[in-house]
Amino acid sequence: MDKYSPLGPDELGPSPNIRLEEGSPAVTILDQTLLPNRTEHLTLSGARELHEAIYSLRVRGAPAIGIFAAYAIYVLSARSAETEFEPFYAEFLENKAYLDSSRPTAVNLKKQLDRMDALALKLRALPIPEILRELRGEAFAIHREDIAMCKAISEFGLELIRDGDGILTHCNAGPLATSRYGTGLGTILLAQERGIKLRAYCDETRPLLQGARLTTYELYNAGVDTTLICDNMASIVMREGRINAVFVGCDRVARNGDTANKIGTSGAAILAKHYGVPFYVFCPSSTIDPDCATGAEIKIELREPSEIKEKFFAEPVALEGVKCYNPAFDVTDNELITAIVTERGVCRAPYTESLRALYE
Ligand code: MRU
Repeated sequence: MDKYSPLGPDELGPSPNIRLEEGSPAVTILDQTLLPNRTEHLTLSGARELHEAIYSLRVRGAPAIGIFAAYAIYVLSARSAETEFEPFYAEFLENKAYLDSSRPTAVNLKKQLDRMDALALKLRALPIPEILRELRGEAFAIHREDIAMCKAISEFGLELIRDGDGILTHCNAGPLATSRYGTGLGTILLAQERGIKLRAYCDETRPLLQGARLTTYELYNAGVDTTLICDNMASIVMREGRINAVFVGCDRVARNGDTANKIGTSGAAILAKHYGVPFYVFCPSSTIDPDCATGAEIKIELREPSEIKEKFFAEPVALEGVKCYNPAFDVTDNELITAIVTERGVCRAPYTESLRALYE
C-alpha cells in the first residue's frame, strides 16, 4: 500500500484526494471506498459518474464534496458543445441540479454549486471560453480557500488542547474530507506537526466505517497515537478518564447552533455531557446555513439497508426480510456543544448571537 501523506503538498496539484485534470477536462479523486487497503484514483468526466462518486462516498466529507462539485460543474460545462450563453446555461443548470441531488445533508454541495452558478450568470455577456476560464479559476479558489480555512480552524483548535490530551473523534473530518489538515482532525494533525502529542480515540463509525477506515488511516500515518474503538465503547473510554475532549466536523449548522454530522455524533455529545467532557464542533463558517433556523429543518439523508446488513460482512448479519432504518446523519442539539470552532474564531453559546456575526 502506498504511504498516504495526509497533509499533502503545498500547492493544489497533485492534491491527494481531489485534483482537476487539464487538457481533456476531468476530475481525479482518491477512491475513499477502497481505503485503507487500496489506494486507487479515478478520473471522472461524465455527469453520471460524477454524481455516483458523491452518492457512493468515493469522495465524501462536506468540504470535499463542495470542492469536488465545483470542479465537476466546471468539467461538465467545459465539455458542453453549446456556443451561445442561453443553451449553455440551460445545460449548466441541468447538470447543477443533477449533482446537487446526489446527497442532501451537507450544505457545502449546494453552496459551492450556487457560487459557480452566480459567476456563470454574472459573466453571461462574455464568450463561452472566457466564462469557462473564470469558472475554472473559481473552482481553484474554492479549493484554495478550503486549505486556508482548515489551517485557520486548526490553529484555533490548538487553544483548546494540552499536551497529552485524549481526543475522541467520530467519522472522518480530516484531509480526505476536506483539502488539507481537515476540520475535526486538523487540530490533531497540526498539534502533531508542532510536537504536541495527543492520543486519538477513533469511533469506527457504523455503518460505513469512516472512523476505522479513514480517520485511523490519516492519524496513524501522520504518527499520531491512534486507538480504534467501536462506537459503543465511547462511554467506557470517557468513564475511564481517557478522553479530555471530543472533536467532530459537521455538515450543516443551523442559526441556533444545532449541528448535523455523521450518525452517532449526537450520542457522543450526550455521553460527553454526562461525563463532563467538552464537545467541540469544527467547521468553516460557510457550513452555517442562514436559511435554517434550527436542526429540525435539516434534511437527513436516508441510505440503503444493505449498508447495515451486508456491506463489510462476509455474510448478511440479519435475515433478508428484516427492516432497516439507516439515517446517515443526526443533529446534535446546541446545548450539548461546548463551542463551534471556525476559521474566524471560537463561537460559544448563545449561538444565535455568536454565529450571526459569521454569516451577516
Ligand atoms: O457521509 P460522510 O462520510 O460524507 O459524512 C462525513 C461527515 O459526517 C463529516 O464529519 C463531515 O462531513 C465533516 S467533514 C470535514
